[in-house]
Amino acid sequence: MTTNIITDIDLAASLLMNNDVIAIPTETVYGLAGNALEEVAVRKIYQVKERPLSNPLIVHIAGVSQLELYAIDIPPAARQLAEHFWPGPLTMVLQKHPSVPDLVTSGSPRVAIRIPNHPVALQLLRKLPFPLAAPSANPFGYISPTTAKDVQRMLNGKIPAVLEGGPCAKGIESTIIGFEGNTPVIYRLGVITPDEIIAVAGAVEFRNKQTQAPVAPGMFPSHYAPHTPLVLTDRVSDFIDPSTSAQTAVLAFKEYCKEVPQENQALLSAAGDLHEAAANLYKHLHYLDGLNCKTIIAERVPNEGIGQAINDRLKKAAYR
Ligand code: TXA
Ligand code: MG
Repeated sequence: MTTNIITDIDLAASLLMNNDVIAIPTETVYGLAGNALEEVAVRKIYQVKERPLSNPLIVHIAGVSQLELYAIDIPPAARQLAEHFWPGPLTMVLQKHPSVPDLVTSGSPRVAIRIPNHPVALQLLRKLPFPLAAPSANPFGYISPTTAKDVQRMLNGKIPAVLEGGPCAKGIESTIIGFEGNTPVIYRLGVITPDEIIAVAGAVEFRNKQTQAPVAPGMFPSHYAPHTPLVLTDRVSDFIDPSTSAQTAVLAFKEYCKEVPQENQALLSAAGDLHEAAANLYKHLHYLDGLNCKTIIAERVPNEGIGQAINDRLKKAAYR
């Protein structure tokens, strides 16, 4: 099987109707999508991604009105957040409706749901009579893809098609929250910041990773990692050894490092814009990993707003 990059949304829909699994664009990262209500399709997602069956999938729906079809006992705060942020990069973990197969939630009584804010994904979802289960379209543990080409390179021969949607505008994954009563609890940092959630829901809580088992395996430390060992630092120059600088790759925030050849480097945002940095993060990591250097030295970004989620991803990429 060759993996084609396609632009025909009707073709994508017919493949999905046929229980095939294909990659689709979203505003965060590309997803590996299949019919969330068909076990055959869901099983293929786990197989292609080589993901443990214990790690549940996000269900993507076309509109807020579909929420009741897949979730029950929805807290008022969840409705407010849905009204405010959907379509958008917020995933909510809610009590699951019996219509959702246990395979999608790994046996959990709760299901993760979001509406992606991407015109192609939305057109596709509106054509389908079912929602789409979709994890990020990378092999388990590797860097998420934000371009159709990066998906094609990683999953070539494993899926029939990647639906082209251009580079993902946001570039890192959705924020995942659950609820304790009516209070949102952050399971995974993402595009929507804790402050933005507080502004709508009035409060937000965090779960301490040291004391609490991860609720979303996106919280496991060794996610999103390139093959090249990655070091995370506030000062790139501290880690440069002049004798091996040709074998060193650098992911810098806004300025190139003088000691390393520029073709081994990528800037997250020359303007110092954290949203641009997020949009470039995985694309640059894919590029730098492809250089096959001995090390990637990554510079921490300012830990504010979406910068917190970027640093979280870099920390996980650095973990060995
Ligand atoms: O932006 C995104 O969220 C992208 C796009 C494609 O929508 N998707 C994504 O999916 O990042 P994935 O599978 O790579 O990460 C989803 C995370 C996983 O860590 C999974 O464990 C968690 O969501 N999750 C899914 N269902 C859950 C559930 N029922 N309870 C707790 N965590 C859940
Ligand atoms: Mg993922």
